[in-house]
Amino acid sequence: MSLTGRDLISLDDYSLEEITCLLDLAEKMAAALAEEEPSTFTPLDRILATCFYEPSTRTRMSFASAMLRLGGSTICMQDVKMSSASKGESLADTMRMMSAYSDVIVIRHAQEGAAAEAAEAASVPVINAGDGTRNHPTQALTDLFALRRRKGTLQGLKVGLCGDLKNGRTVHSLAPVLARLGNEMVCIAPQALALPEEYLEEVERAGGKRPAETEDLAGALAGLDMLYMTRIQQERFPSPEEYEKYKGVYMLDATVMAQAPEGMIVLHPLPRVAEITEQVDADPRAAYFEQAAGGVPVRMALIALLLGLVEEGGGKKKYAF
Ligand code: NCD
Repeated sequence: MSLTGRDLISLDDYSLEEITCLLDLAEKMAAALAEEEPSTFTPLDRILATCFYEPSTRTRMSFASAMLRLGGSTICMQDVKMSSASKGESLADTMRMMSAYSDVIVIRHAQEGAAAEAAEAASVPVINAGDGTRNHPTQALTDLFALRRRKGTLQGLKVGLCGDLKNGRTVHSLAPVLARLGNEMVCIAPQALALPEEYLEEVERAGGKRPAETEDLAGALAGLDMLYMTRIQQERFPSPEEYEKYKGVYMLDATVMAQAPEGMIVLHPLPRVAEITEQVDADPRAAYFEQAAGGVPVRMALIALLLGLVEEGGGKKKYAF
């Protein structure tokens, strides 16, 4: 098994063995980062380019942090309005150029399929950091990392997915891989924001069981091992009026948490808007900030594997993990 030189467009392209290996390496990265004087990482003559055509805080910054922690450098397309895209340059041409300027490209784009198109044109590995409402595979890896750390396993769990399941790409990446790993899911969403049929079918194909569906958050809590809250995706709504109808439809507060199982952790890809109150932050079951922090070791592991920096099968490579 080797991830060297590969892209990451969708987790569907990675085997469970590859995903587990990546998460294991992320654990080692986290342990190395926790050392008082990390001696594992030495200067690295590689460049990571971040090309974000949509807003981002955590994903872009954690990719940059991960590359810097590995000892490498980053270049960043700061503001798309200031780049040649505003002059009409095609995504493919931009990617051809980025391949000459960097060793790995991270792209986020509003258009579904843009990351695959970028990978087609680029000659270096391309990582999808979100393409429209379709995929967000590195968030799903970060979610799995947090889940495994808290629950000690990634199978046989019952997971509630709550919020904007129609537009939320993190759920579209997470649900199928949870099903492949052998977990059961319940979808909690207003009918208009329900998980689209294509994903329900994908989950069923992957895990053999169609997720249950409900609009009632409190009623779905019993037996959950993890509740995955998501933001209502304002930017995907056709009008502000339409968004207003669903804004604040779910609010996880201390009262709801009082009805939740003791062992039910709460994850959220962040940013949160109104769906989890700050009261919940102090609840020991709230794991969303540690989840976001785990994005750094997870992305370090991914970059190291795609760039072939990790010693495999005894060959001499950059890092001996
Ligand atoms: C998510 C995204 O961009 O899809 N954010 C993230 O990367 N952590 C979730 C969201 O914006 O709601």
